Amino acid sequence: MSAPQLLAGPDPSRGSERRAEHVARLGPLPKGGHALIELLVRTGLTGRGGAGFPVGLKWRAVAAASHGSAVVIANGAEGEPHSRKDRLLMTSRPHLILDGAMLAAASVNAKQVVLYIGEEHHAAMRSMSGALTERTEHERRMVRIVAAPPRYVAGDSSATVHLVDAGIATPTTTPPSPRDRGVGGAATLVQNVETLAHVAVIARTGIATDTVLITVAGGVRAPGVFEVNVGTPLGGAVQLAGGASEPVRAVLVGGYFGQWVEPAEAWSLPLDPHALRARGLSLGCGVIGLVPASHCAVCEVAGIMRYLASESSAQCGPCFFGLRALADACTRIAERGTDPGDLQRLQRWSAEVQGRGACKHPDGVVMFLQSAMKTFGDDFAHHPAHIRRSA
Ligand SMILES: Cc1cc2nc3c(=O)[nH]c(=O)nc-3n(C[C@H](O)[C@H](O)[C@H](O)COP(=O)(O)O)c2cc1C
Ligand code: SF4
Repeated sequence: MSAPQLLAGPDPSRGSERRAEHVARLGPLPKGGHALIELLVRTGLTGRGGAGFPVGLKWRAVAAASHGSAVVIANGAEGEPHSRKDRLLMTSRPHLILDGAMLAAASVNAKQVVLYIGEEHHAAMRSMSGALTERTEHERRMVRIVAAPPRYVAGDSSATVHLVDAGIATPTTTPPSPRDRGVGGAATLVQNVETLAHVAVIARTGIATDTVLITVAGGVRAPGVFEVNVGTPLGGAVQLAGGASEPVRAVLVGGYFGQWVEPAEAWSLPLDPHALRARGLSLGCGVIGLVPASHCAVCEVAGIMRYLASESSAQCGPCFFGLRALADACTRIAERGTDPGDLQRLQRWSAEVQGRGACKHPDGVVMFLQSAMKTFGDDFAHHPAHIRRSA
């Protein structure tokens, strides 16, 4: 494991790094602008909030659509239940995020920056607002903090714009994409806070960062956030978390919009957004979740499906009713045992729900379910009843 790049410096568990220490450690912030955008294109940095979109290309598009008055949203909603990396970064390295946000603003011609922070992330909120008081008056005037409600879909880029504009954290129909028409109708760059921290390092060194923040959760001895080199085998990150606490049934790679992988395949998977994509997987928001062999896989899947269905913003019928129906069918199989009719309904309804929402929530859920049904095919096909039917 090479040196950390985002979490270098004081122990992150000590809390918020002060500005003086941050500047003494990293040096002054270079200027943003066209040259930085092209540097980001060359380094191939991809977003760390989930979708993995190339950062330089997004900045180019927002700069082109900006007409001198774009908006930057630093997305620290971190609504993914097991993810902790954005909180750790906001709590320990607030100036790295602010640097990245200011570079973004200068590069895409933005006059406003919004720090969009999950309202239940109290330490992160305190750290970011404290750090803001240490910035220049010009920066303090540009930046404001908006608290996001603790809902899964509140971190979707159109929901961030909706909350900032109208106080409602639900996704809106795209197109138009926020990058064309976002806050107050202005071109808006929505960028995950970890992504912005990478930008702050790249702008100073002129070369690509080669680390990624990974949250290791579930059946490990010491769950937590680890900064690992891009390409580190997944098993290496699990070792940093103390190793598996008991035999592993499967690994969920990339969080709830990610995919299930059998342990035999999982340990050697490279934690590299590009390499995972080439294998049909995604690093998503960097969550690696281990499900112990002692847990019932179908019950795990049903529980997550119920959660994801309940997080629909109830604006689109196929998402609201479809996800609920899928979650109910999973729950029936988990509680009452396999019913071939339910298995068929899961396949049919998945196809009917996909692509039918204003945002990507239903697509992410269907991807999760299809991956579960592939990896746990036998469990779904031969699941015993866990509760007795009443007479
Ligand atoms: C349902 C849903 C929830 C999302 N939640 C988050 C989130 O909590 N944090 C985040 O950074 N991105 C989240 N995203 C992704 C954002 O829409 C957007 O792609 C991201 O903030 C862009 O930043 P990035 O390119 O740096 O990853 C979510 C997307 C969807 C569809
Ligand atoms: S697809 Fe679902 S989560 Fe997205 S806007 Fe429609 S109802 Fe809300």
